[in-house]
Amino acid sequence: MEKLRLAVFASGNGSNFQAIVDAVQDGRLHAEVALLVCDKPQAKVVERARQAGVPVFVFEAKQYARREDYEVEIVRQLEASGVELIVLAGYMRLITSVLVEPWYGRMINIHPALLPAFPGVNGIGQALAYGVKVTGVTVHFVDGGMDSGPIIAQTAVVVRDDDTAESLAVRMHAAEHELLVGVLAAFSERRVLLEGRKVSVRAQ
Ligand code: GRF
Repeated sequence: MEKLRLAVFASGNGSNFQAIVDAVQDGRLHAEVALLVCDKPQAKVVERARQAGVPVFVFEAKQYARREDYEVEIVRQLEASGVELIVLAGYMRLITSVLVEPWYGRMINIHPALLPAFPGVNGIGQALAYGVKVTGVTVHFVDGGMDSGPIIAQTAVVVRDDDTAESLAVRMHAAEHELLVGVLAAFSERRVLLEGRKVSVRAQ
């Protein structure tokens, strides 16, 4: 089977980006990270991409009049790189129909909560403030709403009584990396099927 050509969109640290790159390098994931898209030139993820030899498209939103304008450029870059699947992994920008419409069903996001609980920013802090005993991680298709697209996979993370945002984040990130790499492996083996809001992942 051909390698799955991925683009990762990220804005900050990029530990999920790194987990994907590492899985590709170890042979756990039959894929190629063909492009990193980043809206923050100083982000750590840009440095990670350079070290891994991944091509980077970095932009600054303020240099464009409208969100749609940089997205048109992103779509062009995705096509030029032969990307098959977009992974939003800590990409802190709202996206418009310029990206969502042509890429629906081929664009996924990782969110640090068990959706539909705690969508939007700071899923970890929201879960702690609410006092839930179990939170977790969701990987879902991206639609036009806020973290509202069809769910592909979820994993639970138990909240301990003495957890702080920092201690919980350590376990959340570990859960994210494992779940995301597993989902991408399923995509690379063409085992993911989307029908309406229902997503099934065929067993290996
Ligand atoms: C992760 O918690 C992810 O779920 C959220 O943004 C964070 C990105 O972390 N969407 P990193 O940049 O991959 O370390």
